[in-house]
Amino acid sequence: MGQVLANKHIVLGITGSIAAYKSCQLIRLFVKAGAEVQVVITPAGREFITPITLSALTHKPVISEFFSQRDGSWNSHVDLGLWADAMVIAPATASTIGKMVHGVADNMLITTYLSMKAPVFLAPAMDLDMYRHPSTRQNLQTLRAWNTNIVEPECGELASGLVGKGRMAEPEHIFAAVRDSLVAEGSSPTAGPLKDKTVIVTAGPTRESIDAVRYISNYSSGKMGFALAESLAKAGAHVELVAGPVALQLNHPLIRRHDVVTADEMLAVCLNLFPKADAAILCAAVADYKAAHAVAHKIKREETGAFSLQLVPNPDIAKALGQLKSPAQRLIGFALETDNEEANALAKLERKHMDYIVLNSLRDAGSGFGVDTNKVTILSATGQKYHFPLKNKTEVADDIVEVLATSFGE
Ligand code: C5P
Repeated sequence: MGQVLANKHIVLGITGSIAAYKSCQLIRLFVKAGAEVQVVITPAGREFITPITLSALTHKPVISEFFSQRDGSWNSHVDLGLWADAMVIAPATASTIGKMVHGVADNMLITTYLSMKAPVFLAPAMDLDMYRHPSTRQNLQTLRAWNTNIVEPECGELASGLVGKGRMAEPEHIFAAVRDSLVAEGSSPTAGPLKDKTVIVTAGPTRESIDAVRYISNYSSGKMGFALAESLAKAGAHVELVAGPVALQLNHPLIRRHDVVTADEMLAVCLNLFPKADAAILCAAVADYKAAHAVAHKIKREETGAFSLQLVPNPDIAKALGQLKSPAQRLIGFALETDNEEANALAKLERKHMDYIVLNSLRDAGSGFGVDTNKVTILSATGQKYHFPLKNKTEVADDIVEVLATSFGE
């Protein structure tokens, strides 16, 4: 790994969860990568892991009280907020998450959080009921909208049964999220047609909960969006990749990943990022509808007769960004059409105030969800039309990025 985090300062917040033992492994990963780690622990956190173990790993006294017990000197949370390159709260309990949202600064960890100037990473850890509670969902959504990096177990880890929802992400995964963000921030590419541009990419499906065990989603794999993120980064852009639940990994210093689940979450993150972005490429297959009343328990099967589920529309992210778009910003959307392809795509482009729309037809073999290839036509608001042959998604991404890069010069 080398000293990829040399000279980086990390404040590690530890709270009262059984997963606190995993913080030791996380500290070792940070220290091995060359970072300095300052632990701030809550009173409940100290019930799970001793400050002696932690300070032995970080070579620094652990901060937990407002006043240092030995000499009465004041622990300055403001200084820590300025010292840090990142704050990582792992494990983060439902209580700490709630206090963060509401500014309940009754311990050193929350006061430090409220003074933090650096990006904040949060690895929730709690049992399933607490995790699913609307209070926790709402608080996490608020934190996401404030640009907090919520690090949750990857879909792959969940599918393998290694961890369940609500369990803390593995230390390696948390470390990688922090490393990628810190390395991306520090690197400034010297070349590339999109150097100094920031581009949002939405990717994958969204998942809309029906009850405790069921959801509405679609077959989108996220492959096209992830290929776009890589191609943009290769062209020198800073990429904000807003990804629904997909089993894909990316590791490029210029790509910052924001994992979301629902359309509402995707919209919140996009709205937050858009004012600072030069372009957005909306590749996600956002679920058009969500359950009108998602319930926390499992809905029982009806013994007889049909069952009906009331659905309400999801927000249209493309349309929302289209309404906010300044003349300097570019908006690119996708259209998957089965008939009257070009006319439908152009109508969509106009309705959503897009600059370009990438049309892929389900009629073409090798186009669409799950496959590695795509055949697209790009239509512009100014009436241009670019046809491309069937290519793999990496090459299609390069074509789209080239059209975007050219448009900035016009
Ligand atoms: O209207 P339709 O869903 O076909 O539009 C597709 C385009 O709009 C895609 O670029 C897709 O990412 C985007 N979209 C969105 N939010 C929605 C639905 C679609 O951003 N709720």
